[in-house]
Amino acid sequence: MSEPSIPTDAGSKRPDLRDETKSRMSGGSDRDASTKRRTRSVLVVDDDREMCLLIHDAMSRRSYDIAWELDAAAARTTLESQPFDVVVTDIKLGKVNGLALCKHIAESTPDVPVIVITAFGSMKTAVAAIRAGAYDFITKPIDMDALALTLDRAMRYRELQDEVTRLRRQVTGASRFDELIAESLAMKKIYEMIRQVADLDTSVLVTGESGTGKELVARALHNAGSRKDRPFVAINCAAVPPSLLESELFGHVRGAFTDAKTSRTGLFVQADKGTLFLDEIGEMSPEMQVKLLRVLQERKVRPVGGTNEVEFDVRMISATNRDLETEIAEGNFREDFYYRINVVQIHLPPLRSRGNDILLLAQHFIDNTRARTGKNVEGITVEAAQKLLDYDWPGNVRELENCIERAVALTKFEKLVVGDLPEKVRDYESTKLVIGGDDPEQFPTLEELERRYIRRVLEATRGNKAQTARILGMGRRTLYRWLERMDDGS
Ligand SMILES: Nc1ncnc2c1ncn2[C@@H]1O[C@H](COP(=O)(O)OP(=O)(O)OP(=O)(O)O)[C@@H](O)[C@H]1O
Ligand SMILES: [Mg+2]
Repeated sequence: MSEPSIPTDAGSKRPDLRDETKSRMSGGSDRDASTKRRTRSVLVVDDDREMCLLIHDAMSRRSYDIAWELDAAAARTTLESQPFDVVVTDIKLGKVNGLALCKHIAESTPDVPVIVITAFGSMKTAVAAIRAGAYDFITKPIDMDALALTLDRAMRYRELQDEVTRLRRQVTGASRFDELIAESLAMKKIYEMIRQVADLDTSVLVTGESGTGKELVARALHNAGSRKDRPFVAINCAAVPPSLLESELFGHVRGAFTDAKTSRTGLFVQADKGTLFLDEIGEMSPEMQVKLLRVLQERKVRPVGGTNEVEFDVRMISATNRDLETEIAEGNFREDFYYRINVVQIHLPPLRSRGNDILLLAQHFIDNTRARTGKNVEGITVEAAQKLLDYDWPGNVRELENCIERAVALTKFEKLVVGDLPEKVRDYESTKLVIGGDDPEQFPTLEELERRYIRRVLEATRGNKAQTARILGMGRRTLYRWLERMDDGS
């Protein structure tokens, strides 16, 4: 995100300083604030100097960096020489119409949101302002709290705009690891882990919800290690009937069973000196687990119907979206086998907890689809980006990929708009705790907030009720009662 190089001393931009002391004091407090948070620079354009001062003082207290100009021409010059995050302009600037300035800014620096000050009750002017490209308007007499809220919203818009632009420029680079794309801290830790274990022969179990990228991680592990020039052999344990899995993995000799017209090398031998990836290992039958455990311990396989054992040297990676510890507790998975395959575990976080990775990946999929289809779509609008960030992505990266491909196919614009997104993404009612709008009528009740918070914690603990109760500081029984009430829809 670009940091505007605004002098923190807001007073230095003043054409005519009436009150030096006051200005220096507020400049000082700005500086303190800006060490805590990023600079938020605003240019105010109003021919009424009193108004400029009022806004300056009120917004500086709210840690905005305010500079001002008294006419449109000066404002244009200032904007050319210095970047601002937001511009606030009166609609009447002496003889000049503020709308013209608004239009100029919207065209020359479309990233900078403009807030227009209009006279109370003149809806027509307000509408004209929005048409001229204004981000929002605010009416006179200015309520400073309302202005601050509008500025906050414009800043958020601005930040998202910057983010979306930045992503358009650099999806690759540092964010890439093999085929994986990510920037979030959680995923950078996964990159680090892959680097650490890639060269070892230890078995790795990759876990995570469906569509989180488990297969890509398995491939990245292979490609980053010394076995990269040897085969990467993958098998989906859920897709092969249990009766065939054994011969698939270990091979068989001719005549081993009715259909065995010729002999066949198993995947363990095919993957020799390389990597064998057992996907959806949670679906493997306990009988097969026993056989595999023996094979892994002895590092030798005997083809079905054969007598000779063949040695192999493979690195084994397995993946599952099941919680194997629960499966063990329920008697569906063998504990001894679990310890064998789970020497190192890499757990992939769900997409909804990866923050702006959502936008980075969206841009990546847009770029891919553009390259493949030649359709001229280059990015995403801020409003659509916000929808993607709000949605909870139960199908994770795969769902996002499908969503973007579909949107690119549908869109009539160069940037994806909200209308291009699937209905469930558009209409998703976020259970996030953030209170979206500023409309007091839309604020949730305490009970609703409590409900959202409980859901949020449950989500974060992946449904672990004991942990949830502990975090919430309530007894487990109380939590159960809450959940029952929530299920009733109350
Ligand atoms: N970090 C990532 N960067 C880029 N593409 C990704 C990333 N993670 C996943 N994908 C893409 O999302 C899709 C799903 O990924 P993958 O098949 O690896 O998920 P999975 O966890 O194995 O899912 P499942 O549990 O359903 O098998 C693939 O098309 C993959 O290319
Ligand atoms: Mg998979």
